[in-house]
Amino acid sequence: MTRLRKVVFPVAGMGTRFLPATKVVAKEMLPVLDRPLIQYAVDEAVDAGADTLIFVTNRYKHSIADYFDSAYELEETLERAGKRELLAMVQGLLPPHVRCVYVTQEQALGLGHAVLCAKPVVGDEPFGIVLPDDLIVNEGPGALRQMAERAADGKTGVLAVEEVPHADTGKYGIVDIDGGGDRIRHMVEKPKPEDAPSNLAVVGRYVLPSRIFDLLEQTTPGAGGEIQLTDAIAALLKETPVLAHRFAGTRFDCGNKAGMVRATLHFASADPELRHLVAGLEGG
Ligand code: UTP
Repeated sequence: MTRLRKVVFPVAGMGTRFLPATKVVAKEMLPVLDRPLIQYAVDEAVDAGADTLIFVTNRYKHSIADYFDSAYELEETLERAGKRELLAMVQGLLPPHVRCVYVTQEQALGLGHAVLCAKPVVGDEPFGIVLPDDLIVNEGPGALRQMAERAADGKTGVLAVEEVPHADTGKYGIVDIDGGGDRIRHMVEKPKPEDAPSNLAVVGRYVLPSRIFDLLEQTTPGAGGEIQLTDAIAALLKETPVLAHRFAGTRFDCGNKAGMVRATLHFASADPELRHLVAGLEGG
């Protein structure tokens, strides 16, 4: 397997679906139980082999950098109180070999533009993209690791896909794949159900070659007036294979309230101290 060394987290969106909380709290810092969304995303990237995490942020999102930074006063206090487990937890959010790089997207011009902001840090190597809103859980290798294994030649692109109800195609990038295979022929952003080539939706995980940056530079604003990653991928797949990967795992769309509640119930039902609350909800 090629190691996927660099993973980009585009987190410069406004998070309007979680206002008023997101007026001051970055969406990625909202917790599912006691861990913020960004922690689940970072764990998946580290599981895929990443040692360089690139956060594309904006001026309101300093809390993400603060979260991964050391917290001297807190650590001192926990140390003095002998709270070793808590101390190990706050010091162990990232393995020691992993470093974080923060890049600013000055204006929210779209996901494609946010990814392009990471170009100077990624350079000329394949890289991953994780949208922390999409929380994917499973028992075995994480979704991004599964995808990195399929992109081992360094040129192939891999996109995570999932079947969605036909009525929902307007919320996603939708792919058209080769008859029986998984090579993507065509991709459209947020098509109406009657125009959608399938119901296979791209979700928030990508492994892409660095060539995508040249294509993003040539991409003009598309759907919603934003520079769309989908449009640059549509250009990429004319040059090189881009595969649709039906990942093993369950995705929770934590970009909206229903998905956030579902994810919370999922983790609560696996927690010995909280399990009875979920059972109580199901019972009545
Ligand atoms: P969304 O479409 O979910 O937008 O962006 P959002 O702002 O995060 O949330 P809502 O819809 O207003 O509630 C998809 C991903 O792209 C990033 C977001 O941070 C999110 O991870 N993004 C989007 C950027 O980094 N920059 C942009 O200009 C747009």
